[in-house]
Amino acid sequence: MHGILRLRYAHLPTFAPLRMTRFLTALPAATLPRVQPLLRRLLGLHPAAVKESALLGIGHAAREEEHREESSEEVAHDRCIHALPRAGNRHASPLTQRLPPRARLATQVTMQKVPLGESKLQSSRLAYGCWRIACTGNIQEDLKTARAAILAAVEAGYTLFDHADIYCKGRAESAFGEVLRENPSLRKKILIASKCGIRVADDPPGAPQRYDFTAEHIIRSCEQSLKRLHSDRIDLYQLHRPDWLMEVDEIAIAFSSLYKSGKVREFGVSNFRPSQVSLLQRAVQQKIDRNLVGNQVEISLTQLAAFEDGTLDQCQALHITPLAWSPLGGGLLGDGATDLLPGQKGYKPNAINTVLDEIATARGTTRVAIALAWLLKHPTKIIPIIGSVNPERIRAAAKAAEIELTREEWYKLLIAARGTPLP
Ligand SMILES: NC(=O)c1ccc[n+]([C@@H]2O[C@H](COP(=O)([O-])OP(=O)(O)OC[C@H]3O[C@@H](n4cnc5c(N)ncnc54)[C@H](OP(=O)(O)O)[C@@H]3O)[C@@H](O)[C@H]2O)c1
Repeated sequence: MHGILRLRYAHLPTFAPLRMTRFLTALPAATLPRVQPLLRRLLGLHPAAVKESALLGIGHAAREEEHREESSEEVAHDRCIHALPRAGNRHASPLTQRLPPRARLATQVTMQKVPLGESKLQSSRLAYGCWRIACTGNIQEDLKTARAAILAAVEAGYTLFDHADIYCKGRAESAFGEVLRENPSLRKKILIASKCGIRVADDPPGAPQRYDFTAEHIIRSCEQSLKRLHSDRIDLYQLHRPDWLMEVDEIAIAFSSLYKSGKVREFGVSNFRPSQVSLLQRAVQQKIDRNLVGNQVEISLTQLAAFEDGTLDQCQALHITPLAWSPLGGGLLGDGATDLLPGQKGYKPNAINTVLDEIATARGTTRVAIALAWLLKHPTKIIPIIGSVNPERIRAAAKAAEIELTREEWYKLLIAARGTPLP
C-alpha cells in the first residue's frame, strides 16, 4: 500500500456520513479486523462504532448527526479512508470503485519523500514555491490564486511549501496563512520553509536594497513571518542571499534563540557558496549543535553552475539537501516564461527542449516531467521547487516523481544543456 486516497469533506457535504456507513456495511466481515485500526486512526471513529455500523448497519442517523456537527472547519478537510495501490496508478482498488465519482475527483495522492539533510523532517520529492501566489496586490484575487495553487499542490502530494518574507511584499505568506486558517488540519500535514535577509529599497524611505543577517533582523523577520503565516513555527528557516557583512557567530546567536523558543525547527541557507556554508555550519554546530539541512540554489538544465562550483559536492559530503529554485528555468523549459529574473534572460533553452521533447514522447509524458526528473536523478536528492500558480501545471509537474531516467537519457540532456560535447 503505497498511496492514500483522501476524501475532502469540504467538497462532499452530504456524502461523508451516509456513504461511509454504506461503504462499511459493504465490507466482508472478515476484512474488518484489518481495516478497523486504520479507520479508527484516520477517522477518529470509536472501534465499537465502526464495527456496529459495518456489521449491523445500524446507527446511521446517529453517525450522520455526529458528522454534521463536526462539519465545521476542523472537519472540513482531508480524511483518509483507504489506501490506494500507488500514486498515479490507474487501477483503482475494488473499494475505491465503490465510491461515488465525486469522491474520486477529490483524491489526495502521496508523493515519495526524502529527508531534509540529516534532520527528522521528511519532504515530498518536489516542493511547491510560493513566490508568485499573491502578486497582483488585489487581496481577494490573490487569495483565490493562492488557494487554488496551494490546494492543488496539497492534493498532488507536495508537502514542502517554500516562502520568503519578501515574496509579493509579504502578501504570499499572508495569503498562505489565510488558506491555513481556512483549513486548520492542513498545517500538521505540511512543512513550511521561509527565508529572510533581503531588505528592499526604501524601507525605511531612502534606504538602498541590502542584505541583513544581524541577529535583530533575523529574529524580527522570523516573528513577522510567523504572524503572517498564522503558524507557531517555521520548519525550515533559510538565509536568502549571503550578506556581504555577515558575522557567523551573530547568525548562530539568532538561530539559537529561534531554535530554543521553538519558532524554528531546522535551518538552511540559499545562494551560499560552499565556503560560506562551511563557515556558517561550524558556527551553528558550536552554538546549538545542529547541522544546516538545506542549500537552496538555482539548478536546472538551463543553469548548471551548482554541478561545477562545488555546491552539490558539498551537499553530498555534508548531507545537506539541495533545493532547486527555478527548476524549469523560470518557465523556459515549460510553456514559456513571462517573469524571468535578470540572470535568466540569456538562457538558451531550444536545444534542451528538443531533447526533452524527444525523451518525453518516447516515454509518453511531458517535457516538464522529464526536466524535473533530470534533477531528481542526482544522488544528493535535489528537491525541485515548482513555481507555477496554475493548478493543472502543478499537478502535471508532480508526475516527475514517478520517472527514473536512465544514465543515457541523463547524459544526453546534459550534453544538450552544455551545448558542447563532453571532454
Ligand atoms: N532562493 C532564491 O533566491 C529563489 C529565487 C527564485 C525562486 N525561488 C523559489 O523557487 C520557486 C520556483 O521558482 P520559479 O517560479 O522561477 O520556478 P520555475 O518552475 O522554473 O518557473 C515557474 C514559471 O514558469 C512558468 N511556466 C511556464 N510553463 C510552465 C509549465 N508547463 N509548468 C510549470 N511552470 C510553467 C510559470 O507560469 P505559470 O505560473 O503561469 O504556470 C512560472 O511563471 C519560487 O516559487 C520560490 O519559492 C527561490
